[in-house]
Amino acid sequence: MTTRRHFLQTSTAASLAASAAAQTGKSPNDKIRFALIGAGGMGTGNAEFALRVGGTELVAVADVYEGRLIRAKERWGKQVATTRDYREVLARPDIDAVIIATPDHWHQTIAVEAMDRGKDVYCEKPMIQRVEEGAAMVEAQQRTQRILQVGSQRVSSIEYTKARELFAAGAIGELNMVEAWWDRNSALGAWQYSIPTDASPQTVSWEQFLGRAPRRPFEPVRLFRWRNYQDYGTGVAGDLFVHLFSGMHYVTGALGPERVFATGGLRFWRDGRDVPDVMLGLYDYPKTDRHPAFTLALRVNFVSGEGESSGFRFVGSEGIMTIGRGVTLSKVPRETEPGFTIDTFSKAEQERFLKAYREQYPLQRPNADAMQPQTEERFLAPRGYSDHEDHHRNFFAAVRSRQPVVEDAAFGFRAAGPAVLSNVSYFEQRTVKWDPVGMKLA
Ligand SMILES: NC(=O)c1ccc[n+]([C@@H]2O[C@H](COP(=O)([O-])OP(=O)(O)OC[C@H]3O[C@@H](n4cnc5c(N)ncnc54)[C@H](O)[C@@H]3O)[C@@H](O)[C@H]2O)c1
Repeated sequence: MTTRRHFLQTSTAASLAASAAAQTGKSPNDKIRFALIGAGGMGTGNAEFALRVGGTELVAVADVYEGRLIRAKERWGKQVATTRDYREVLARPDIDAVIIATPDHWHQTIAVEAMDRGKDVYCEKPMIQRVEEGAAMVEAQQRTQRILQVGSQRVSSIEYTKARELFAAGAIGELNMVEAWWDRNSALGAWQYSIPTDASPQTVSWEQFLGRAPRRPFEPVRLFRWRNYQDYGTGVAGDLFVHLFSGMHYVTGALGPERVFATGGLRFWRDGRDVPDVMLGLYDYPKTDRHPAFTLALRVNFVSGEGESSGFRFVGSEGIMTIGRGVTLSKVPRETEPGFTIDTFSKAEQERFLKAYREQYPLQRPNADAMQPQTEERFLAPRGYSDHEDHHRNFFAAVRSRQPVVEDAAFGFRAAGPAVLSNVSYFEQRTVKWDPVGMKLA
């Protein structure tokens, strides 16, 4: 029996689906046809996660190095079209969405071009290489009404959702500080990735890699270890701080800091890189309706004798929440009286002091009922849980529904802005002021 209410619900759902289909040209049963631009480590991972979501089909791959195109066909089949020029991919009307996993200096250019060409975009972090690029990205997303998901997968993680819920419920009292770090002590950890022996001007479209970066003769290390150079990457701040900003902003609802200061140095990996391998960043967050004023301290150390470790500590007046191995909430009960330091006062003064003190805090015999628990609660995600997959799921669901994603251009800019400004602070040896609401230099 079709009641009027039921009819209204189904017709609203149907018209939503119809309007989504009009915008994507997709019925819910159609596959979303996507392409990968930049088929290196993360791009390959992204494509695999995207395929795992289901209802998706990889139709084309663009990369400037021939070996990665050959590998794409080996991995995903001969039917996958390959090209060294990403513009060929964007020109194809049968592609709905693109995953951009190139070096950082290409993100904004390709993402804006893709949205202008009607594609939905999954763009790897950091969304931008330089702070000046952010506004155009936000504007392009709004103008074109395309879906843009930035690839800091933590914001789709059930662990961060748990932390966000605990934080919002006041689990740690008043937040005053957040500390986060990402330490490593290995060659691969420090970005010394393999350089293929067949890299040559014939197998690499060098100019297509350089893009807007300064012209240079062919030098494979700059392509295969692009993170080590300011011309293409964003140092540890854009590579790793940005994940910490994204995760922290998601948990606290913070929009960003007002002041950015970073310091550090190149201490060990002197392989020709022009970025530091140890960096500390300090950030002042102003009070908002979501949280009190607090200070953020970030650290990346690629020469940490302890090996790889990363985590978060959210420090509040009533407890600490850590994210590392799961989410842990630790609380030590507050003292019931402040105590005193009267031993160096005269005997007479000690007596006077103690009398007044005990009037304020009457002596109580310890009893079991008054004992307070010191607690530690740990929340663990199921083994094998992947936030990457959830992040792609969130993206492709939005491509179909046209509903907002978790990490749109504004969110991406608010994380990448202070991350890349850390580099400005480090290289120019100054504090940088930022307007986290307006997303511009202050
Ligand atoms: N979300 C995460 O956890 C995560 C992890 C790793 C990397 N990333 C991001 O993913 C991106 C790629 O990093 P990666 O580690 O895969 O690097 P990578 O060097 O392995 O891959 C980059 C690929 O882009 C190709 N490329 C360069 N210029 C190109 C162009 N103009 N057009 C098409 N392809 C081009 C390169 O040949 C290479 O194959 C970076 O932005 C990085 O920050 C994100």
